[in-house]
Amino acid sequence: MKPSAYVVANWKMNKTGAEAQSFVEKSSKLLLNMEKAKVIFCPPFTALFDMGISLEGKPWILGAQNMHWEASGACTGEISSDMLKACRVEFVILGHSERRHNFGEPNNWINQKVLRAISTGLHPIFCVGETLEERQSGKMEDVLHKQISEGLAGVKNSNGMLIAYEPVWAIGTGEHATAEQIEKAHGIVKNYVCESLGDIGKDIPVLYGGSVNPENAGELIKAKSVDGFLVGGASLESESFSEIIKEVETFIKE
Ligand code: 13P
Repeated sequence: MKPSAYVVANWKMNKTGAEAQSFVEKSSKLLLNMEKAKVIFCPPFTALFDMGISLEGKPWILGAQNMHWEASGACTGEISSDMLKACRVEFVILGHSERRHNFGEPNNWINQKVLRAISTGLHPIFCVGETLEERQSGKMEDVLHKQISEGLAGVKNSNGMLIAYEPVWAIGTGEHATAEQIEKAHGIVKNYVCESLGDIGKDIPVLYGGSVNPENAGELIKAKSVDGFLVGGASLESESFSEIIKEVETFIKE
């Protein structure tokens, strides 16, 4: 049993504002009386405003998938922390592997984003994870160390930060990490987070992400080091996402 747990939906580049609103309506019916898990929805930027209105009065929280570290200025195509907050966003995913690998975001950009999010009152969902090649060549620890020490440099106050361990080889592949692999990786992540942040690192929840679905969520949430999930594909249908939330809820203490 766990004192609390998070279930975060990362919708990536899926759903318009209207689709996001109807998802919330449908999920509300499926999840009546399920209010123990902390559920965060991260729709695309264009759906944030509508989603913020839909979530009013609901026990769920709004998150974004990325942001820029500057307050404003000549950054075509980017979004600032104030713009997110104006849509009622509270959490922001930073350093997702798709940003790191497909869009070339280096650790020092992610670090600036983390610092900006914290200083403006947003809670970062800071993502780390190794590729299959890095794991197979024994570099997993080094990769996690670099991502964490550089990504969290200068952080003095975690401001409700969540960490997500998402091994790149498990994202969107249908092949999730085993509970044993997750426990080991989360232990490494936790150590490096404490090395970077000191005592405040101990209380930062560590979520797992990578092919989480209704079939494996019940087994994976039992792992001691898992404080919740960051879910991609299975968060796109309200039925499968609700099933995952129900699995998680059964492991949260009253
Ligand atoms: P999948 O759940 O589709 O594997 O995606 C995981 C992910 O990238 C969440 O951020």
